Amino acid sequence: MAVLCLASGGGQQGPVLAAAGAVVTVFDNSPRQLGRDEEVAAREGLAIRTVLGDMRDLSAFPDASFDVVFNPVSNVFCPDLAPVWQESFRVLRPGGVLMAGFMNPDIFIFDVAALDDRGELVVRHRIPFTTLDLPDAARLRSYGTGPVEYSHSLTEQIGGQLAAGFTLTHLVEAPHHADATARYMPGYFATRAIRPVRGPQVG
Ligand SMILES: C[S@@+](CC[C@H](N)C(=O)[O-])C[C@H]1O[C@@H](n2cnc3c(N)ncnc32)[C@H](O)[C@@H]1O
Repeated sequence: MAVLCLASGGGQQGPVLAAAGAVVTVFDNSPRQLGRDEEVAAREGLAIRTVLGDMRDLSAFPDASFDVVFNPVSNVFCPDLAPVWQESFRVLRPGGVLMAGFMNPDIFIFDVAALDDRGELVVRHRIPFTTLDLPDAARLRSYGTGPVEYSHSLTEQIGGQLAAGFTLTHLVEAPHHADATARYMPGYFATRAIRPVRGPQVG
């Protein structure tokens, strides 16, 4: 299978899927993250193609060129999702599968400092939320110098996949891997959707 690991650099998903027999392309906007895939591929004797770019623009790939688009939790760093779903739809062959992971937007209502320091869930923010909403000092304290984060709504996440033409087949929830919200609520969602064999040819 031809698999596009979308915004998936870092040397994790791409090598695992290549080891399982997939023909893997890892696409990411970080040369450093792609470098990790190249490093693991070389170490493990795997063939992986790496492509640098923004997940909203997959013009590097022709229409219907992949069987699977695998998008691990990464669209929290992307300001707008409609182009991501539309481009994923375009590069998948009819019958192809989109697997996506994303944050539960409700996570973003809490004060990260209170969560980190005391494990307390203090409601602080309205959603939709972006870390750009915070004053510089507060953003630095809670989110460090990492990339800007965007909570996104379920309309953007799930409604956006449907609007692009996908048919949703599965949805699961999972607790956050690290923070105190894990005791109370799911931190992540994952979806599986297919590009229908019959239906719109573009999303
Ligand atoms: C949390 S990592 C997820 C993948 C990683 N293999 C992992 O398991 O942790 C998020 C990835 O998304 C990439 N990324 C963030 N914004 C992006 C964008 N707009 N276009 C492409 N890649 C992006 C980052 O460079 C990073 O490699």
